[in-house]
Amino acid sequence: MATFKRTLVTSALPYANGRIHIGHLAGAYLPADIFVRYLRMKGEDVVFICGSDEHGVPITLRALEEGSSPHEVIDRFHTENEAAFQAADVSFDLYGRTSWPEHRAFTQEFFLKLLDGGHIEKKTIEQYYSEKQGMFLPDRYVEGTCPRCGYEDARGDQCDHCNATYEVTELANPRSALPGDGTTPVLKESVHWFLCLDHFQGDLLTWIESKADWRPNTLGGAMSWLREGLRPRCVTRDTDWGVPIPLDDPEAKGKCIYVWFDAPIGYVTNTKVWAERQGTPEAWKDYWQDPASRIVHFIGKDNIPFHTIIFPAMMQGQGDYIRPDVVVANEYLQFKRAGEQAAEKLSKSRGLVIEVASFVETFGADRLRYYLTAVAPETSDSEFSWSDFLHRTNGEAADVLGNFVHRTLSFGTKVFEGRVPKAELLEADRKVLSAIGEARDEIGRMLDRFQFRQAQIAMMDLARLGNRYFDEQRPWETRKKDLPRCAACIHVCLQLIHALARLMAPFLPGSAERLAAMLHLEGHATPGSWQRVGEDSLPEGSTFDRPKILFPKLEPEDVPAQ
Ligand code: MF3
Ligand code: ZN
Repeated sequence: MATFKRTLVTSALPYANGRIHIGHLAGAYLPADIFVRYLRMKGEDVVFICGSDEHGVPITLRALEEGSSPHEVIDRFHTENEAAFQAADVSFDLYGRTSWPEHRAFTQEFFLKLLDGGHIEKKTIEQYYSEKQGMFLPDRYVEGTCPRCGYEDARGDQCDHCNATYEVTELANPRSALPGDGTTPVLKESVHWFLCLDHFQGDLLTWIESKADWRPNTLGGAMSWLREGLRPRCVTRDTDWGVPIPLDDPEAKGKCIYVWFDAPIGYVTNTKVWAERQGTPEAWKDYWQDPASRIVHFIGKDNIPFHTIIFPAMMQGQGDYIRPDVVVANEYLQFKRAGEQAAEKLSKSRGLVIEVASFVETFGADRLRYYLTAVAPETSDSEFSWSDFLHRTNGEAADVLGNFVHRTLSFGTKVFEGRVPKAELLEADRKVLSAIGEARDEIGRMLDRFQFRQAQIAMMDLARLGNRYFDEQRPWETRKKDLPRCAACIHVCLQLIHALARLMAPFLPGSAERLAAMLHLEGHATPGSWQRVGEDSLPEGSTFDRPKILFPKLEPEDVPAQ
């Protein structure tokens, strides 16, 4: 493993056009948070950046649909989503906004630099225009008949029926999808600015070819663009909602920079704002420009080309910037209804949305985190179902981890007055203790490779081992027949719990904290605490509390039938 001086972790900026749902959380946010918490516990220099994506059609469309304004939409959902992430214990160092004035200025600077470098060129293209509304229509505002399968309600650039993608001009019978419009649009010439991705083809190819250890979905997505050959791509739009084109050109009037150009720059702006708020305004450059640093992007799979091709090309055109070390793309979490065979996409339009905020309010952050990591869509789509959620939180989080903690601490308070008993260790005890350091290394290796599902299993395996050892040692019997043996068993189990309070912290931070409090531990998740697992131990005689239940069992009626 190469070592890095510092790490910048980003999660895709969610559009502030709706509430984030559990599919989002499972994809780009929860794994990133686990990774960051782990690095922090190792004492590494890490910054975790996210924020709202507040421009583009998703925002204006929402405003049109609900009859409000884009401003109103972004203010509402920025606030709600920031609170939802907080409730789920996602520990961003900064959650910014692309509507911030500093972001506008920074985006314009990027645009001009590319223009000066000869990487942005102006072209005239034909685009659909609604005469009724007096405006050009972005692809998303045009509907018509699919040129491949004949489906009549196909969207401008993609057919929901056969999944084909095409140019909007290929649609038969086009009509405007603007609310209150519905007229047939006409083709009209319009001037736009194009980013010459082709200038970067060779360098991007060399770079991607050096990334053999990336996930196949990410490599595959990047390679399919590169194999087709990169072409100039339009980076402006006919809209007044966005970052204005910074040119004194009459043809730039009424146009803005494309949302997918400005949004990833939001990672940089937000790092800059973080650095300013820290009182070290130049520190953002360390994370973006020092070759000794690494950048790790967590995204959903639909964002792959933007993070492996377009944004890296934009950055290369700036000079000075380093490329991401890893782009970690996740597949989708789908929803499985009770009694159905096939899983469906979690989507608002199908009424299948489970919002993070309400989920956490009902079930707590750690049940959600535990389950979403257990079914993380790392290498293929995965499924959420209420019955599986019930099953795993009761059968794993509660029965394995919660139970091990509970039986050890109850026994310890009853028999040893809440003090770590003195132990004369035998071979079997030592073997169990040596599993602690092994578990720490194993979990760390998996987290370093972004295998969160496996890492959580390895953490749970330590609790499983504890339960097995407890059962074998039968402290409830030795308590009467052989008290020193009983003491050794509880001593060892307490050391396991001491380790678990730290090893579980990246995954289940709230529960780890509650456990640490029961053990009277301080700094269970502070920098350096990870390496100490397996090296240190709870001293004999140190005190702990009577346990509080970590994961109270859910009843079937606690979860929705559907
Ligand atoms: N808002 C986009 C989406 O939800 C993601 C933007 S990621 C960024 O798909 F890189 F542009 F920030
Ligand atoms: Zn079709």
